[in-house]
Amino acid sequence: MNPSTEPKVLEEGRVSWSSPSNIAIVKYWGKRGEQLPQNASLSLTLSASQTQMRVSYAPKGPKESPGLRSFLFQGLEKERFKARIQNYLHGLKDRLGFLDRVCLDIESENTFPHSCGVASSASAFSALALCLCEIQEELMGASLPREDFFRKASCLARLGSGSACRSLYAPLALWGNVGQGPFVDDHALPFREIHPDFLGLRDDICIVDGGVKPVSSSLGHELMEGNPWAKIRYATANRRVRQLMDILKSGEVWDFMELACAEGMALHGLMWVSPRPSLLLKPASLAIMEKVIECRRRHKIPLGFTVDAGPNVHVLSLDRDRKTVAAFLKEELAPLCERIIEDRLGEGPRRTAGEGQGGGRG
Ligand code: DP6
Repeated sequence: MNPSTEPKVLEEGRVSWSSPSNIAIVKYWGKRGEQLPQNASLSLTLSASQTQMRVSYAPKGPKESPGLRSFLFQGLEKERFKARIQNYLHGLKDRLGFLDRVCLDIESENTFPHSCGVASSASAFSALALCLCEIQEELMGASLPREDFFRKASCLARLGSGSACRSLYAPLALWGNVGQGPFVDDHALPFREIHPDFLGLRDDICIVDGGVKPVSSSLGHELMEGNPWAKIRYATANRRVRQLMDILKSGEVWDFMELACAEGMALHGLMWVSPRPSLLLKPASLAIMEKVIECRRRHKIPLGFTVDAGPNVHVLSLDRDRKTVAAFLKEELAPLCERIIEDRLGEGPRRTAGEGQGGGRG
């Protein structure tokens, strides 16, 4: 056996990654097989909305079962999250052989509130997937080239939550076979052909209702199966991703905003025509959307919005218009929502310094 691939004696260690959430401009809504998307999606990787995860690993004791031993979220035990992670790790046993031999203790913290309209599963599963890939390398005493490492982490993150696979890459990520370029369904890839104007993209997240969503994303994806518009949706979404790729390259900021609004509304339209229609938008969500359109007209600045499967509205703008947008948020939108989380394009995941024993890729 090649000494670099020979498994080392199992040791203890700790790895730590911080990974961001993302917001899709063209949405993933509908899946097949092993969490594969029915259409391609393209997202902005955020900056302020991060999950910081620390995973300690140790050989399992003679009477212990392997896998997740403890899970703390913001310092507290959370049974529902723990069960989801346990299930996820169980499903990864064939891909990560070490999961049969070790116990894991996980601590996770978010920089943003839970169930607030920021996709916490995206940041959490991308951070966890990175930690697992790092542990595997530490145990093997060998490391993959950076690109392969991230591709593998994106693939593993996808199995936890589809949208999580996009959080691995910044500033934008594309997931799914869109019929051009290197893009595939297994994992996301960075989308880097961006006009510099887009690097100043901001996402101000208007929290209309921070409560738990009445319809989970998983159920929403499932309901696409009986949706009479499904086929048209998947073709439209792929076409929109290709359009968006061109828009991003050429710097058409106005077209970008229009496409973002159209996609946000399309997602909710799909829910209204599904076999079990659900109404997730609140009157305040619609009021915010209207005000954004009105503000765009009044000030002649590229402003848009998008909405995920919930009532909270992501207001999209450019840095260069910050003064006008900041006043608009404060005077017109803040009275309509619980709070506004200011976010923007970020730099992607980061290996947290000083933890673990590995090589520092962040
Ligand atoms: C509306 O990734 O949360 O945010 O794969 O079941 O975990 P699972 O779903 P999830 O779905 C995200 C749906 C969306 C659109 C998007 O992020 O593309």
